[in-house]
Amino acid sequence: MPKAAFSSPKTVSITIDGVKVSVPSGITVTAAVMEVGHSYIRTTPLSGQERSGYCQMGVCFECLVTIDGVPNQQGCLVKVSEGMQVTRQHTAPVISIHEGL
Ligand code: FES
Repeated sequence: MPKAAFSSPKTVSITIDGVKVSVPSGITVTAAVMEVGHSYIRTTPLSGQERSGYCQMGVCFECLVTIDGVPNQQGCLVKVSEGMQVTRQHTAPVISIHEGL
């Protein structure tokens, strides 16, 4: 059987809420959060209701998460990478009124 032209690690190490975990390489952040057993990826700012990814294709914005210190990232659109720091969000999205001006 021919060998693959390249090799990639089968897992990567990331932290989720400060806890180091090993997840399959190539999966999204949203999938990684679910993979390690969390039932939600964020809570709503007003009611605190637990939410998780819904569409998995960048449409619904239910999967907002903080990645490497940057809030409001769509976890379903970002693949995990070695050393990535993921924090589930429990606050309102930060929206600047100056964006786009
Ligand atoms: S799950 Fe819908 S935008 Fe990410």
